Amino acid sequence: MTSLLEVEGIDVFYGSVQALRGISMRVDAGEMVALLGANGAGKTTTLRTISGLLAPRTGSIRFDGNDIAGVPAHKLVRLGIAHLPEGRDLFPSLTVEENLRYGFWSRRRTAGAEYKDRLEGMFDYFPRLKERRSQAAGTLSGGEQQMLGVARALMSKPRLLIVDELSLGLAPIIVEQLFGILREVNATGTAILLVEQFVHMVLANTNRAYVLGKGEVRMEKPSAALLDDPELVSSYLGEEGAAAAGYVVEPKTPPAESNGSSSDGFNGSNGIGSNGIGSNGRGVMNGSPMNGSMNGSAEHPARTSRPRRPRSTSA
Ligand SMILES: Nc1ncnc2c1ncn2[C@@H]1O[C@H](COP(=O)(O)OP(=O)(O)O)[C@@H](O)[C@H]1O
Ligand SMILES: [Mg+2]
Repeated sequence: MTSLLEVEGIDVFYGSVQALRGISMRVDAGEMVALLGANGAGKTTTLRTISGLLAPRTGSIRFDGNDIAGVPAHKLVRLGIAHLPEGRDLFPSLTVEENLRYGFWSRRRTAGAEYKDRLEGMFDYFPRLKERRSQAAGTLSGGEQQMLGVARALMSKPRLLIVDELSLGLAPIIVEQLFGILREVNATGTAILLVEQFVHMVLANTNRAYVLGKGEVRMEKPSAALLDDPELVSSYLGEEGAAAAGYVVEPKTPPAESNGSSSDGFNGSNGIGSNGIGSNGRGVMNGSPMNGSMNGSAEHPARTSRPRRPRSTSA
């Protein structure tokens, strides 16, 4: 069987700085795969390269047998790759429904009935979004915003859903709910590749895992095997793993209200209270999230660029 996604030996650079070195990985149809690694290991860079936001200098990326290395992101959405970026990139001043409509952009030429179908499907997954369909996205709680991010990505009916830092800034109970939805989505045949810092939770919910360190694949194993061997995991993702990736493990800090956008915070309006990362040992190896410092790396373009309004002319 050929894989849905096959990445072979990619090197990716930021200017003259090499971020990825010969990364090879695959996601089979219907699989749910985790990408783990300390802060700065190259997880986001890998995801951005797969979804066409960065081009590899060498190596190949095949999706459904087609070479897609360097194909721009908007075309990949049409081929069936949807990417929920770190920080979500919602349109804060647009309503929930307008954000969802934007997620359907790549399929806008299909019959209107399909849009309604998709929309209703998302509201079935996330009833909260239906209640708030006319509310501006920026006024939602952090958990609701992440629900919207997932739903918006799913509007394009992807065959591969890529999610970067699902749990960023969210309470564990919300993350668990989101994982429940992702499993349902996966059960309908959508393959999922995700980066996640709740190591235990992500291993419990995926088929296989890759561990990155310093821009290289350090390990690839069935998630269950890693779940059974916390020492192995912490040796890669705990202090040693972080140190190997060139990072000092700092005392736990709450996840960043990173980009200064008031809309990214978890506002507690759903009664969960403040976020649980770092304050709740659940799902965290050695009681320490593997990305000990969320702000350790160079500012990422995805975090600083503000979302643009969807254009009303053709793409
Ligand atoms: N826009 C950028 N410009 C220059 N270097 C970057 C940029 N984004 C990331 N890097 C560097 O690339 C490496 C991998 O980063 P990243 O993929 O964001 O790691 P992770 O998602 O695993 O934390 C790090 O050394 C980081 O500092
Ligand atoms: Mg990252």
